[in-house]
Amino acid sequence: MALLPIIIAPDARLKVTCAPVENVDADIVRLLDDMLDTMYTAPGLGLAAPQVDVQKRILVADVSRDPDNRDPIFLINPELLEASEDLFKYEEGCLSLPEHYAEVERPAKIKVGYLDRDGKRQELEAEDILATVIQHEMDHLDGVLFVDHISSLKRSLILRKLRKTKKQKAKETAEA
Ligand code: NI
Repeated sequence: MALLPIIIAPDARLKVTCAPVENVDADIVRLLDDMLDTMYTAPGLGLAAPQVDVQKRILVADVSRDPDNRDPIFLINPELLEASEDLFKYEEGCLSLPEHYAEVERPAKIKVGYLDRDGKRQELEAEDILATVIQHEMDHLDGVLFVDHISSLKRSLILRKLRKTKKQKAKETAEA
């Protein structure tokens, strides 16, 4: 197990379109496990590969919030197959935008196709929080952050604060 450093916004590496995984090999499985450990440790409900500086279409999620009954999912090359017209509103956060939250509305029910850890094609239906988390993480694979779904005013406010925090941290590191 290895904990991976999480990239904090604003960062150009969070704005890229990730490439599909061509081969689910041992390196990919190790990455899935490391991403899951990193997500649980953070802690967070989901994590996408670009957040740990891997520009591949991979995400992990677990919305059980119960360390004794974990229920992780691993999605490789996820594709949205169906999305409901009815929406679900949730106050989203992101490990790449620590301590910032905003309400985002997304389809309440979705169906996704993906490759599992064995490289097998699977389908998954999800609703409410799990559907939100999967869509949030899938957005990351196309360089989209949850703040891209809110007003530009709120977005620039959050990004300005994150930039300021980054500068302060860099200064503290330089002085130490
Ligand atoms: Ni996120």
